[in-house]
Amino acid sequence: MKTYLVTGGFGFIGSNFIRYVLDKQKDIGIINVDKITYAANPGNLAGYSENYKFYRVDIADKTALSKVFQENKINCAVNFAAESHVDRSIADPGIFIKTNVEGTLNLLELSMKYRVEKFLQISTDEVYGSLGASGKFNEETPLSPRSPYSASKAAADMLAMSFFHTYNMPVLISRCSNNYGPYQFPEKLMPLVIINALNDKDIPLYGDGKNVRDWIYVRDHVKGICLVLEKGKFGEVYNIGGNSEAENVDIIIYILDKLNKPRSLIKYVKDRQGHDRRYAMDFSKINAETGFLPKYNIEKGIDSTINWYKKNESWWRKILSGDYKEYYKKMYENR
Ligand code: NAD
Ligand code: DAU
Repeated sequence: MKTYLVTGGFGFIGSNFIRYVLDKQKDIGIINVDKITYAANPGNLAGYSENYKFYRVDIADKTALSKVFQENKINCAVNFAAESHVDRSIADPGIFIKTNVEGTLNLLELSMKYRVEKFLQISTDEVYGSLGASGKFNEETPLSPRSPYSASKAAADMLAMSFFHTYNMPVLISRCSNNYGPYQFPEKLMPLVIINALNDKDIPLYGDGKNVRDWIYVRDHVKGICLVLEKGKFGEVYNIGGNSEAENVDIIIYILDKLNKPRSLIKYVKDRQGHDRRYAMDFSKINAETGFLPKYNIEKGIDSTINWYKKNESWWRKILSGDYKEYYKKMYENR
């Protein structure tokens, strides 16, 4: 039995990863370390108790984090824990440095001290900056983060790689494009659009609506992460993408049409400050080295996401009645 330390396991991607691993690999135990921020939802892992343990710990608190390492023999660490929302980083960058940079440093130091055999840093295409109308990011593209969020993720990546070069630590980095799918907190575009449309509420579309993201269904990302863990080489970065570029306005129109809702729900609002124009991932390296290919095209992925949000109304209603309501008010009513 191997033990994985998974940080941020109550978040969107972390919980999808933990469910996938526990369902598929009976020889892996999971220790989930999560601070339980606004974005966490313990209900995402309801029913999982076999080969699973949870610690409520802030990765920025090194003393508390070190207890997790003292009490468990950890073979592999996968760091999902992060403040992950670009808009929040623009409003309040400090916590992004604390969690994403200092928290990652603590994890690296403890993983080295306790001789963890593999350390995977979960990163993002946003560290590469913004593209023009053509081209794609590959692993050689220079880092050029443009928001406090992406700057904090780039710093974490560089720290992680510095531990490989300096201490010969077994570090891997995966960088993925925009995820969507079940259990995504409804401040991100896809769940926000689905939920607002189901409730006949306005859908805020930033700027001219023509910013492009490369969308990937979360299950494809999770499979890519498993392949990096299985076959990735230490000291290497692996881009993961969905091969599904789309303009924001087209994503919204597709969802509205699927739900038979009027396009008049779209409300053009003030643009995000420093809004990155386009992301697109060249993931030929992970394809060549591990065979990774995304299975969901964007239509199939969105259809399945819409069905999940329709079937799991109680999941998102709970969130809407809590803190998020206040946040939502602040973000959109003052625009
Ligand atoms: P999320 O916001 O849904 O979840 C983050 C989780 O981390 C939450 O459970 C939260 O409680 C936990 N957390 C936050 N601060 C913590 C701290 N100090 N200590 C311990 N736990 C803490 O995020 P997500 O969308 O699931 O993203 C997960 C990771 O993947 C992040 O590192 C993000 O940068 C990266 N990523 C996300 C995407 C995307 O499209 N969502 C794409 C590429 C990479
Ligand atoms: O690219 C990977 C990144 O994708 C991850 O690293 C981040 O953690 C994740 O949050 C996501 O960042 P984005 O900023 O791209 O995602 P978001 O869902 O916030 O926005 C997607 C696009 O939609 C972006 O161009 C902004 C736009 N948008 C977003 C919201 C929330 C709107 O037009 N209206 C909205 O209300």
